[in-house]
Amino acid sequence: MADTRSLFATRLYRARLSAFDPQIDPGELEASCYSIADDDEAGQDWCEREGYPGYTSYASLTDLPWRFPIFADLVKALDAHVAAFAEDLQFDLGDKGLVLEDIWINVLPEGGSHGSHIHPHSVISGTTYVAMPDGTSALKLEDPRLPMMMAAPTRTKECREELKSFVYVAPEVGDVMLWESWLRHEVPMNMAEDDRISVSFNYKWE
Ligand SMILES: [Fe+2]
Repeated sequence: MADTRSLFATRLYRARLSAFDPQIDPGELEASCYSIADDDEAGQDWCEREGYPGYTSYASLTDLPWRFPIFADLVKALDAHVAAFAEDLQFDLGDKGLVLEDIWINVLPEGGSHGSHIHPHSVISGTTYVAMPDGTSALKLEDPRLPMMMAAPTRTKECREELKSFVYVAPEVGDVMLWESWLRHEVPMNMAEDDRISVSFNYKWE
């Protein structure tokens, strides 16, 4: 029998946000996202200018946790999730830690999508899901080695998840997903009538 192993793992973390305190009320978080989006004219202008579908606070509000107590609470819970993931990754953090770098709101309306990207300058990136209407987009993750597979055959449709080139994950409201920031990902088009709302974030090693 041959001994065939998997090497160079890509870890993907999924948990319920509520697994760590403080507890965040999902309805209050959704209402906060909408009220911040409604008030953020600079952000709305940026989205319009850049052709961004829907709304993101990424370019306009860099201090959500300082302005809004519910985001301060959210960051406390996310800090604990990121620490748990760092344990799983067996990172040697030395005398530094993983600390929040950015956190932002995404409101993706029907027909909106967010193309494939990575998060430079960060270590851990992730998203917590605030509103996920029926039929809305999954999160699509891509094997980072695709550029090296020029002459390789594709895999069978039924191949094991760890061998797939693209993996789709359908998060539920209240889920937290974390991955290493180099992992390319995208949000395919939202085919649901209602908004897909999420809060994304980056953690750096500092
Ligand atoms: Fe992203």
